[in-house]
Amino acid sequence: MVNILVTGGAGFIGGNFVQYMLKKYPSYNIYNMDYLTYAGDLTKHEAIENMENYFFLKVDISNRDGINTIFKEYKFDFVVHFAAESHVDRSITDPGIFVQTNVVGTQVLLDAAKQFGITKFVHVSTDEVYGDLEFDPTTFFTEDTPLQPNSPYSASKASSDLLVRAYHETFDLPVNITRCSNNYGPYHFPEKLIPLTISRVLNDQTVPIYGDGRNIRDWLHVIDHCSAIDLVMHKGINGEVYNIGGHNERTNLEVVKTIIKTLGKSEELIEYVTDRLGHDKRYAINPTKLEQLGWNPTYTFETGIAQTIQWYVDNKKWWEQIISGEYKNYFEKQYTN
Ligand code: NAD
Ligand code: TYD
Repeated sequence: MVNILVTGGAGFIGGNFVQYMLKKYPSYNIYNMDYLTYAGDLTKHEAIENMENYFFLKVDISNRDGINTIFKEYKFDFVVHFAAESHVDRSITDPGIFVQTNVVGTQVLLDAAKQFGITKFVHVSTDEVYGDLEFDPTTFFTEDTPLQPNSPYSASKASSDLLVRAYHETFDLPVNITRCSNNYGPYHFPEKLIPLTISRVLNDQTVPIYGDGRNIRDWLHVIDHCSAIDLVMHKGINGEVYNIGGHNERTNLEVVKTIIKTLGKSEELIEYVTDRLGHDKRYAINPTKLEQLGWNPTYTFETGIAQTIQWYVDNKKWWEQIISGEYKNYFEKQYTN
């Protein structure tokens, strides 16, 4: 029996990954470890919670005693590490928790993996550690691009990447680091651009665009991210970094207009608001190394965004329960000025 620890499996990408793995590998045990912060939600797992090979563990990854107890008890073969504070805007107002969770939490997990032994530690990172690119469509992030993070979020992720690398170099820990572009898809928390836009347009509310809306992100459907991690877990060469992206570069304005058009609403819903501090201009991934390992995305941006919009139409109950809670205070504070 293969035992897989998924940290952050109550969040957006980790949650999709848990369900993807249970479906694809019925013989694996999946342990979802999550502290259930504002971003964690277990209702998404109602259909799997009684499966014999799915387990939930509520632990803070920076709680060393708790983590060590669990590693000792369960003997994990794989650790796939998603748990993190993940929102750039929140990192601008409160950087401290990003260091605690993303840096200290990762180091606690690395120590436990080293002490109790594992086959592979996959560290799920982000292309934002590379900083940003100019609006020159011929330049891309490769695995050799220097780390130049600009936000407290990306700086904390880059710091954790360096620790993961160091545990490989110093202790020979079998690791991989993946750096993916912006994800979208089902169960995306509505503080991020795409789910925020879909949920607000569906409610006939304005959509806040930072600055002039010309910043570019490279969008990947979450299921294509899951398949990439699955591949790296099983086939990645120890110590290597793999960039993940599908060449879906869009300006924020293009993304928002696509959603408004698909939902048959008016572009008058667009509201230009004060720009984000240190707003990265452009992200774009060169995924050649991962493609050579055998990965290909299944969604184009057009098919993925259509599927995602339909999912939010069909699952209003899920996101309405989220935007009626703590999120309300967050939204007011974030967009008041
Ligand atoms: P998310 O915010 O939706 O989920 C994060 C999860 O981690 C939540 O369930 C939360 O409860 C949990 N968590 C937070 N602090 C914890 C702690 N101290 N202990 C245990 N659990 C804790 O994030 P996401 O968008 O799913 O991102 C997952 C990972 O993927 C992150 O590491 C992020 O940096 C990376 N990533 C995200 C994107 C993206 O577009 N969302 C792109 C590339 C990489
Ligand atoms: P986001 O979804 O927060 O992801 P990231 O900052 O990690 O790329 O933001 C995506 C882009 O959308 C980014 O350029 C900031 C912009 N944005 C807005 O214009 N308005 C918003 O309300 C939000 C949340 C983001």
